[in-house]
Amino acid sequence: MPISPIADNLLRWYKQHRRDLPWRRTSDPYHIWVAETMLQQTQVETVIPYYERFLARWPTVEALAGAKLDDVLKMWEGLGYYARARNLHRGARGVVEEFGGQLPNEATALLQISGIGRYTAGAVASIAFGRDEPAVDGNIRRVLCRLFAVEEDPRTPAAQERLWRLAAAVLPAGRAGDFNQALMDLGPGICVARKPRCLLCPLQDDCQAFQRGLQERLPLKAARKVVPHHTIAVGVIWKRGRILIAQRKADDLLGGLWEFAGGKQERGETLEACCRREIREELGVTVRVRERIATVEHAYTHFRVTIHAFNCDYVRGTPKPLEAARARWVWPSELGKFAWPAANKRIIEKIMTAKRG
Ligand code: ADE
Repeated sequence: MPISPIADNLLRWYKQHRRDLPWRRTSDPYHIWVAETMLQQTQVETVIPYYERFLARWPTVEALAGAKLDDVLKMWEGLGYYARARNLHRGARGVVEEFGGQLPNEATALLQISGIGRYTAGAVASIAFGRDEPAVDGNIRRVLCRLFAVEEDPRTPAAQERLWRLAAAVLPAGRAGDFNQALMDLGPGICVARKPRCLLCPLQDDCQAFQRGLQERLPLKAARKVVPHHTIAVGVIWKRGRILIAQRKADDLLGGLWEFAGGKQERGETLEACCRREIREELGVTVRVRERIATVEHAYTHFRVTIHAFNCDYVRGTPKPLEAARARWVWPSELGKFAWPAANKRIIEKIMTAKRG
């Protein structure tokens, strides 16, 4: 099949401008899988040091399969979207058990592995195995919406299907890996969300949005949703110099990460009462709530939180993980060994800089 002008122009550009990235210096499918997992919702510059540390520690799929989940989460700390780490770990075990430690070399088989969705299957199949598979992530979706002047809301299932079909239609046979990665470079470098740099774009002549002056209007933006906000009180529970911490249940948001026990403030409740109640419900422990030591704001994808952290004195009750996976008493100096959500890390800094009298 002759190569389309779009593919031809893009591949020429890529030859000149491709970014030299660590996962482009390897053909190891496991390494490419790790990279593509980390790169979901996360920028290249953020991913690079995590990718290098992760593979230095677990260079093979067998090594990752043999790792403890707590260690994998600790390595992932700060990268966010921790379900990716849990699924990657579970996926590595699946690859060892069901595929003899070799990642399968086609998209449909890759899709059976934990954590591998349509995008990752397409990316790994094309980049690691040279398969003619499209891969559509957020950046590529934006490029395609402009290239083909897609005027529907790209979040609808029908539009998603259309975008995958368009991505497959322009794919040059035998060059899908480079082509997909070229789109991945064009998205953040040139076809950026706001003020795309069309004068530098190798696809300017092919771009229907540019021809019609729609490049800043496409892709269609989502109607602004009101993001819920929660006020949360948590306790740094002290007993003879040690602190009680809790691990979140595996399937929760941030599952497997450690935190200070606490939860959402209810209507009419003071922060102190909320802190006391949540600790009793979560760990079966009674505390005396003392001074506030930190207030932290954090935005997740679908909601925002304000977390008020209080020093608390342990009063009575054996800690039981009633609404947690585990509970542990630890010395402040040990806090760094555990994997924490970003918001809790700022509370830890306060604890470490203001050791308690
Ligand atoms: N984003 C997702 N996958 C990527 C890749 N392979 N190279 C650069 N950016 C990416």
